[in-house]
Amino acid sequence: MPDVVILLGGPGSGKGTTAERVRDQLCYKHVSTGDMLREAVKNGTEIGLEAEAYMKRGELVPDDVMIKVVAERLNRGKSADKYLLDGFPRTLEQAELLEQTLKSIGGKITHVLLLDAPRELLIKRLCGRRICKECGMNFHIETMKPKQDGICDACGGELYQRSDDHESTIKNRLDVYSRQTKGLISHYEGQGILNKVYSGGPVDELVRTVTGILTSGR
Ligand code: AP5
Repeated sequence: MPDVVILLGGPGSGKGTTAERVRDQLCYKHVSTGDMLREAVKNGTEIGLEAEAYMKRGELVPDDVMIKVVAERLNRGKSADKYLLDGFPRTLEQAELLEQTLKSIGGKITHVLLLDAPRELLIKRLCGRRICKECGMNFHIETMKPKQDGICDACGGELYQRSDDHESTIKNRLDVYSRQTKGLISHYEGQGILNKVYSGGPVDELVRTVTGILTSGR
């Protein structure tokens, strides 16, 4: 029975950071729809070509595309797999399709973690974010500077800024989140599986809280 944990939260709220820190410790598979789409764009696949313009504007990629991407990923998993879904679902339609897919493979959503931090902090985090092209390590131009400008401390790779990490696009992503994704909070509250977690503090504290929730048996 595949178990699924959904990481819900606005851009920059720490979904990817949390998933990366928790997955190995608790044996989850990290499924990030944002990473899957960026890979598809990089490889010039049909899905990538369709998704690119939406992503650049900070809009959501259409539900029918997203549903195909995620259903295919879950269907090829093993029955004992546990997943951290980072960035999916983002609309009610995606949530309903996820529930149907899980039902057909005997899986269930065990937790929905809502990562929550102030809007201004999210804008600051994302405007200054730089990522290594080679190993994917994250830096920040003010709070987590690399030793040498533009170069990754870990592997020497070149650092780049995501094409949607510019202030106007970040603000649009936040507005899109408020308009199209926030409604999922009451959907999951109604099912009694939502935990709200403050994600504006230190990463270690966030990871401790999330690990505690996921191992507490509820
Ligand atoms: P996606 O890649 O999912 O982007 P996002 O939701 O905007 O989220 P981010 O990856 O920017 O932030 P995050 O919450 O993971 O935070 P992170 O841990 O990286 O999606 C991109 C696009 O793809 C969408 O706009 C859409 O077009 C499309 N898409 C994806 N899924 C879709 C779907 N289901 N339906 C339709 N379209 C879809 O942290 C951010 C930064 O802050 C990092 O630099 C990190 O180091 C730092 N940080 C994190 N936590 C802390 C902390 N506690 N203290 C200090 N710094 C921190």
